[in-house]
Amino acid sequence: MSQTPPTQDELKTMVAQAALAYVIPGEYLGVGTGSTVNKFIDALAASGVSIKGAVSSSLASTQRMASLGIPVVDLAQVDRMSVYIDGADEIDAHGYMVKGGGAALTREKIVAAQADQFVCIADASKRVQVLGAFPLPVEIIPMSAPEIVRRFQAMGGVATLRIANGQPLVTDNGQYLLDVKGLSITDPLAFENTVSQWPGVVTVGVFAHQHAHVCLLGTPQGVQSLVY
Ligand code: 5RP
Repeated sequence: MSQTPPTQDELKTMVAQAALAYVIPGEYLGVGTGSTVNKFIDALAASGVSIKGAVSSSLASTQRMASLGIPVVDLAQVDRMSVYIDGADEIDAHGYMVKGGGAALTREKIVAAQADQFVCIADASKRVQVLGAFPLPVEIIPMSAPEIVRRFQAMGGVATLRIANGQPLVTDNGQYLLDVKGLSITDPLAFENTVSQWPGVVTVGVFAHQHAHVCLLGTPQGVQSLVY
């Protein structure tokens, strides 16, 4: 008798639960953004594990944690965190990721940079050979959009402004987002360096310098721990 394979939602629940093993009671914890992280936040609240405080990467995660009684602290109050837990849109064999599908890439990169260990929680659909099939999010200063679109075009990419409710989406930082299709990012470190230097780019959604150290990957066979 064949069993029904777990849904993507069930895989996200599995990795969110598995991530609790990385939470250090009594310490500060960095918390990302997205549907997988929402499940982690719910699991953390239900676990009863007490942390000193969570450093949040978005207004959405802050609101969810606050509503569940998880103390949220400002990044400025924290020197370093041992652990940052977040999802990804894509992750490769080196732990390099594309992030920003949830529009929180800038704060995610800032918080991740102050953590010793990035624990990525993702369902198996996020595992890729080469980054770039998922449209790459890039947070930009609005006036720079036309030139950045041209620069991506010269690389073979098609960049479009992210729209929400008929208007350009405005990030938590008051900026715009481009989503870039058609890229094949074979050297994520070099790509991140290059695009980060373009005038008007706030943050590129390639996380190569702030790569994952561990990925808890939800598969039909269970949670795989991939270490980079
Ligand atoms: C938000 C992100 C998310 O981590 C990424 O989009 C994955 O989201 P989800 O867990 O909903 O699949 O980078 O900016």
